[in-house]
Amino acid sequence: MCAIETMKLTKSFGNLKAVAEMDLSVDNEIFGLLGPNGSGKTTTVRMLTTILNPTSGDAAICGHSIIKEPQLVREKISYVPQDMAVDPKLTGRENVIFFAKLYGVKRPRDIADEVLEKMELGERADDLARDYSGGMRRRLELAQALVHDPEVLFLDEPTIGLDVSGRKKIWEHIINLKDNGMTVFVTTHYMDEADYACDRVAIIDHGVVVANDSPEALKARCYNDIIVIRAEGKYRGNIIEGVKFIGQNEDELRFETTAGEEMGFELARALSDSGMKVKSFSIRQPTLDDVFLSLISESEESGPFDYRRFRTMLRRRG
Ligand SMILES: Nc1ncnc2c1ncn2[C@@H]1O[C@H](COP(=O)(O)OP(=O)(O)O)[C@@H](O)[C@H]1O
Ligand SMILES: [Mg+2]
Repeated sequence: MCAIETMKLTKSFGNLKAVAEMDLSVDNEIFGLLGPNGSGKTTTVRMLTTILNPTSGDAAICGHSIIKEPQLVREKISYVPQDMAVDPKLTGRENVIFFAKLYGVKRPRDIADEVLEKMELGERADDLARDYSGGMRRRLELAQALVHDPEVLFLDEPTIGLDVSGRKKIWEHIINLKDNGMTVFVTTHYMDEADYACDRVAIIDHGVVVANDSPEALKARCYNDIIVIRAEGKYRGNIIEGVKFIGQNEDELRFETTAGEEMGFELARALSDSGMKVKSFSIRQPTLDDVFLSLISESEESGPFDYRRFRTMLRRRG
């Protein structure tokens, strides 16, 4: 039995299909749902955690229907929303005990000690949450989510707004939870993090799943070598045989080819001949970011996907 299975899961808000006929199955793994802002990630998680009713379709968590057996689903899961606030006026320990009591957990104090220790907050447990760093708050939220020992954990953008070391630590804990048998369903728009931590990912765009596989398989299937050329001037679509244009980010053009070394020089020359001023070029292996960029831009119908705007938007949010 799958930990999570969605069957044509759909949510409409008026005319907008926020999630469209989603079919996914998630085993005992870390599963990443990736997509730009507004692509339907949070809506998906809210349906799977029984907070929001689907418009049509269904999903099963540990075999229980989110529509017909929401109470049984709730017993199996925990959910850390993107903007859940811990109570800053309570200590870390008080926050967790509050949650444990809310869930009707037996021995709430012992359980609180246990999960705080697990999240490396034991020493700071009696400090006010208000004095915690962003990373510590996120770990406190994770501790709260663990009090009733869920089988499936839902995390919505768990590392947003954290610094590099804070993010790394959160992922270490998430991986550790998986290694101890928990299924983790996580949304993120940080491709490098998903690449590092997720066993499998689904990429969604406008509510539609456009790819679903392991990061390795997606990278391998999508591309061979990536040629990155930084150049001034307008790219006019001029290209040489054996090279495919895959996207542009500011003055950085990305191409795909099977023979990066040879083609890199030829391509740089061709662009230069077309009037562009080539500043640098390099060849590298594809990342999940490349996969994302290609899929999202290809399925964008209302003009080319503005990667720079997307990036700026994310930075502002963080
Ligand atoms: N309660 C709501 N009412 C109307 N539209 C909504 C509501 N919640 C989300 N949406 C819309 O659904 C789409 C998907 O949103 P969301 O799931 O929050 O995306 P993400 O989490 O990927 O950023 C967006 O276009 C958003 O504006
Ligand atoms: Mg969201």
